[in-house]
Amino acid sequence: GETESSKKIKLRVLVVSNRLPLSPVRGGPDSWSFKKSAGGLVSALRGIKDVEAMWIAWAGLNVPDSLGQSTLKDALAEQGCVPIFLDEELVKLYYAGFCNNIIWPLFHYLVLPQNDQLMVAHSFGSQFEAYKRVNQMFSDAVSKYYREGDVVWCHDYHLMLLPKFLKEANSKMAVGWFLHIPFPSVDIYRTVPFGPEILRSILAADLIGFHTYDHMTHFLCACNDILGLERTPEGVQDKGRLTRVAVFPIGIESDRFKQTLELPSVKEHINKLIQRFGGRKVMLGVDRLDMIKGIPQKILAFETFLQDNPSWIDRVVLVQIAVPTRTDVPEYQKLTSKVHEIVGRINGRFGTITAVPIHHLDRSVDFNELCALYAVADVALVTSLRDGMNLVSYEFVACQDSKKGVLILSEFTGAAESLEAGALLVNPWNTTQVASSIKKALIMPTDEREKMHMCNYAYVTTHTSQKWAETFLRALTDTAMKAQSIIRQ
Ligand code: ADP
Ligand code: G6P
Repeated sequence: GETESSKKIKLRVLVVSNRLPLSPVRGGPDSWSFKKSAGGLVSALRGIKDVEAMWIAWAGLNVPDSLGQSTLKDALAEQGCVPIFLDEELVKLYYAGFCNNIIWPLFHYLVLPQNDQLMVAHSFGSQFEAYKRVNQMFSDAVSKYYREGDVVWCHDYHLMLLPKFLKEANSKMAVGWFLHIPFPSVDIYRTVPFGPEILRSILAADLIGFHTYDHMTHFLCACNDILGLERTPEGVQDKGRLTRVAVFPIGIESDRFKQTLELPSVKEHINKLIQRFGGRKVMLGVDRLDMIKGIPQKILAFETFLQDNPSWIDRVVLVQIAVPTRTDVPEYQKLTSKVHEIVGRINGRFGTITAVPIHHLDRSVDFNELCALYAVADVALVTSLRDGMNLVSYEFVACQDSKKGVLILSEFTGAAESLEAGALLVNPWNTTQVASSIKKALIMPTDEREKMHMCNYAYVTTHTSQKWAETFLRALTDTAMKAQSIIRQ
């Protein structure tokens, strides 16, 4: 039957992001299968339901025409997806270069080591040119599929020039843009190359959304300090045109996690895992292998904990699932080696013939296995140095209804704002504090754990990704309707 929400929103939305929700895997010369892509954006956008959606994004791999580009297009069309193909040079300059070597670290307050910055600097111009070109290609693709009445929802730091290109192509198009990562404070933003141009392009949207009040405030300050634009209670005012700016905290599909835990095969898997860990306490980390996740900091804090509390050796394991990501960017390659080196050293130091303290896996796990791991963990350890929101912390909470484990959460995540009362907040740079929080989590009395878990659980199960998507889309249609009536007057 028709749900409440579908009665309220009747529209078609063109979702535009860099990453497709599905990663194509070649089966044979002309056959494709798909794997869910990792990352918070893809997980959250599963929340768009009861609305007709078409997803336009980069194909994720280079497929020459002769090698099955059209069969891939057809296979994706069946899933409501339109792929954009980028050649290797563009991927290098736009994705590995401008997006992930310049914008991503800066927006997460990580200033690259000097020599890397020099390396990057000499091709800044060409990287930004490629970024522009790709944004233009995305705009052309949207124009091709756009029908009057559609709303266009652009996502993330890969597509900051897109709102302007879209409005230039068709000023009547309703355009929203949402940032899934932090917007940095204005002192950092000033160092972003081509920063003023980027701000102006984002402002072409009708509605701009952020995860947290802080990110939004940083953006408004940048518009004021750098462009001299006036801030109003609703957004940013530029010569009579208002761009609405607001906070839309993202969530997860909590029901999907709960339902998965009910599957007999998952229950069986949980029992197997429990047996395999042999009564040891389980600490869990699930991250893309990214420098913003503070994985070395997490592992070093675990080492400090074992060193200070030798009675816990062999009574606790740290399971770290780290899916490789952006492997063409040199900083990510260095991170992988660094993590392997630290894990090896600690396992050598504290391991026994039969057991090691850290199980580190360099891969993604499928959804059922992920749920089982979340459910058996006693403690989740999220140590991001900066993180837009961090959905892993929500996913852990959603799977802990029977165990009521403890969440140790970096204060530098967006999630720290919503889960403050139910988590042990830490500064990941403070190894001593993280180590003592690990101990506190492991020995926390049941009633305290339950109380904290209930706070988190109430939040995560009510602030879902579906609500997030509906709220944004409703605000976008309202804003666009108002803007059109002003133009008509
Ligand atoms: P980010 O968007 O920076 O990757 P989030 O924590 O917001 O961080 O979202 C990560 C998403 O990717 C979650 O939905 C999580 O389940 C998924 N994910 C991350 N690492 C893995 C992994 N190793 N295996 C499976 N899924 C993963
Ligand atoms: C973060 C970004 C997303 C991105 C994801 C995975 O969540 O906000 O835009 O899709 O990381 O990274 P990748 O580079 O693999 O798409």
